[in-house]
Amino acid sequence: IAVTEEHDRKEIDELIASLPQRKGSVRPFQCLYQNFWFPIFVLPNVITFQRHFEAKHKDIVLASQPKSGTTWLKALVFSVVNRSRFGISDTPLLTSNPHDLVPFFEFQLYGSKLRPNLDGLGEPRLFATHIPYPSLPECIKRSDCRIIYICRNPLDTVVSSWHFFLQKAQLEEQPGWSLEEHFETYCQGTISFGPFWDHMMGYWKVSLEWPSKVLFLKYEDLKEDTIVHLKRVAEFVGLPFTEEEEEAGGIEEIAKMCSLKTLKDLEVNKSGKVALTIEFENRSFFRKGEVGDWVNHLTPSMVDRLNSIIQEKMSPFGLEF
Ligand code: A3P
Repeated sequence: IAVTEEHDRKEIDELIASLPQRKGSVRPFQCLYQNFWFPIFVLPNVITFQRHFEAKHKDIVLASQPKSGTTWLKALVFSVVNRSRFGISDTPLLTSNPHDLVPFFEFQLYGSKLRPNLDGLGEPRLFATHIPYPSLPECIKRSDCRIIYICRNPLDTVVSSWHFFLQKAQLEEQPGWSLEEHFETYCQGTISFGPFWDHMMGYWKVSLEWPSKVLFLKYEDLKEDTIVHLKRVAEFVGLPFTEEEEEAGGIEEIAKMCSLKTLKDLEVNKSGKVALTIEFENRSFFRKGEVGDWVNHLTPSMVDRLNSIIQEKMSPFGLEF
């Protein structure tokens, strides 16, 4: 195995060296791979995952772009799927960050470039990814495993991601970059895992054509009515809430446990760290969690520019914000 892995690594490194690269503002280098921009340090993991992951029919994959509500979705789906094992008083969410409970393929599971043994995980297995739909391994597309995608209004996502990476830079005492610079990268489609419109449209189209495969959620809808969407999630994964659970307030309990306020105030999320190839403070995943925070940051011309991209790339296919 060691020899094969050594050979794989060399071949992957050569493949990556042959790809178009750019120096990103957020991370030093990005590569254009299968029409999307990936951080170069994540790409070996992505390729290893594509080659070696073996899907099981019951797997559930949570997909998103960074800063779209991934952490929240992880907490919600983990709670729905594991509600017969854990109550609210002993949920692992009290002591673990959601990213440690629902790991990313490309940062955590394939992070060492080795092939992790995922067979022993309890079923249904819960995974997460920022990888776009076309680049998911064929076994995920062909098996019965289900995908839940969360997207968010790009106006809020661009503001959220700017704060996130700026905070990271400040903690490392690295020079930050302006919102204007970050915004430009976002609109050009060269942000990591971008272009954002192709990422969203990939999952959106599959969700329309094959609704039992991809459940497409919007952050804004989840904020407006968490209960309704928790019920949709539970039905989608084949574990609908019973009448008794509903009457006993089980859905509200999950919504409350997973709220920004509850999670943000937990000791683990105030002080812990999570290794997503690079290390992040758990608290950096919980900021304001508001819809429409962009009004406080974007100029009218920025808003016009982003809205015209949405109009051009997404509205014709029925995706509106
Ligand atoms: P803001 O920066 O707008 O506050 P991700 O989890 O994909 O990294 O996205 C992070 C965004 O989701 C941040 O948005 C964060 O505050 C928000 N968020 C995190 N946990 C949340 C929760 N439980 N409920 C609502 N929003 C949440």
